Amino acid sequence: MKNVLIVGSGAREVAIARKVSDSKIENSLFCVSPDSNPQVSSLCVDYFISPLDQVEKIVSYASLKRIDLVIVGPENPLALGLVNALDAAGIFSVGPKKEVALIETSKAFARKIIDLCDKNKNPKRKEFHNTSSVLDFINELGENYVIKYDGLMGGKGVKISGEHLASPEEGLDYANDIIRGGGSFLIEEKLVGEEFSLMSFCDGKTCKHMPLVQDHKRAFEGDRGPNTGGMGTYSFSDHGLPFLKESHISEAQKTNELVAKELHKNTGTPFVGILYGGFMLTRQGIKVIEYNARFGDPEAMNVLSILKTDFLEICLSIMNESLSGVDVQFDSLSTVCKYAVPLGYPNKPEKGFLVGCDVDNKNLYLASVKSEGKELRAGGSRTAAYVGKSQHIKEAEKLSEEGIREVSGNLFHRKDIGTEELIESRVKRMQEILG
Ligand code: AMP
Ligand code: GLY
Repeated sequence: MKNVLIVGSGAREVAIARKVSDSKIENSLFCVSPDSNPQVSSLCVDYFISPLDQVEKIVSYASLKRIDLVIVGPENPLALGLVNALDAAGIFSVGPKKEVALIETSKAFARKIIDLCDKNKNPKRKEFHNTSSVLDFINELGENYVIKYDGLMGGKGVKISGEHLASPEEGLDYANDIIRGGGSFLIEEKLVGEEFSLMSFCDGKTCKHMPLVQDHKRAFEGDRGPNTGGMGTYSFSDHGLPFLKESHISEAQKTNELVAKELHKNTGTPFVGILYGGFMLTRQGIKVIEYNARFGDPEAMNVLSILKTDFLEICLSIMNESLSGVDVQFDSLSTVCKYAVPLGYPNKPEKGFLVGCDVDNKNLYLASVKSEGKELRAGGSRTAAYVGKSQHIKEAEKLSEEGIREVSGNLFHRKDIGTEELIESRVKRMQEILG
């Protein structure tokens, strides 16, 4: 019997909780989270309502409940050293210690690690702690640049020239805002191509790769609007993506493996948990956009909904450093996941309105909701996701679109995610870029 504690209770953690409770390995599930998600709580024997920055309280709770294994969903507790504190109390986590979670926490650190693996995977870039030479570097990049806040911003700290920044002066204003707030930032060359996510299970020695997924960061259809945590994702039944060759996939897999190794070498701490590489295929080859130290959200819903191998068995093999002996398999199905988000998201989201949906639907994943008795109210961040699964992407998209429309409230979603039209236009665009 294993006592498993899940940290967090968004849609990603619903996906994790369902996989743990479906395991053949007998277990009791616990959750710690600031809000009670009814889809997680219905699977738990106990639910601890607590902010996730209360590291000591979470460790005390885990000790009290004799937890064998903790699975950490979001990035903030990783950055705060929750895994270090649990480890000191003798409790194992599927999640990295803060020294190596820095691959997500600091974009400057991530770029340094990638340089040590393969310099060609990085764009041109410079770190800034003041704004004195910002305009010079923007000029050097020919005004094709990206400004990235160097810290955790839930995917919303990146502004791109021509999309969010109309002139170098607007870029300078954003840079000044960051400095005034006590932060630092990177300016990077603006890369052009198609993005994809590759997540790998890591036990400190071995990486086992998951199917590739494409996320949609922009808020609005046609990839317009501000960056978000991710509006939706799709994956193909062959576990690749139609604009990528086999060689691109193995290059991305190799990069995750090198990054895991280099993190260990550089910090003395092995990377244990889920390593998420965010890549872009460009005319100059595969480049790294970012690294995360956890399951992607929504990517987790795509891959976990088709994971064939027992998830808890994988987690225990990560704990025992025996991942190399586990055959990690996924169903040959395509998936499309769409998020319904509050009107105004991400900048000024409405909140507090009633959300209507079928909580028992296994393809529906509740995210930022507050439950009041039988009622659900929107918390303000992404509200709920719906996954369509089928052999063919067209059918998966149809199921996802129909499912997400059933969620009622002051919400919107991107109808274009996973459609044949959008995917074909991506393939065509990639062909044009590659020449
Ligand atoms: P990040 O939080 O680093 O993943 O950035 C959010 C989004 O900004 C990415 O998914 C990309 O769409 C975009 N982005 C980040 N860095 C670059 C870059 N160097 N060139 C072009 N787009 C970028
Ligand atoms: N979907 C992007 C992320 O989880 O950061």
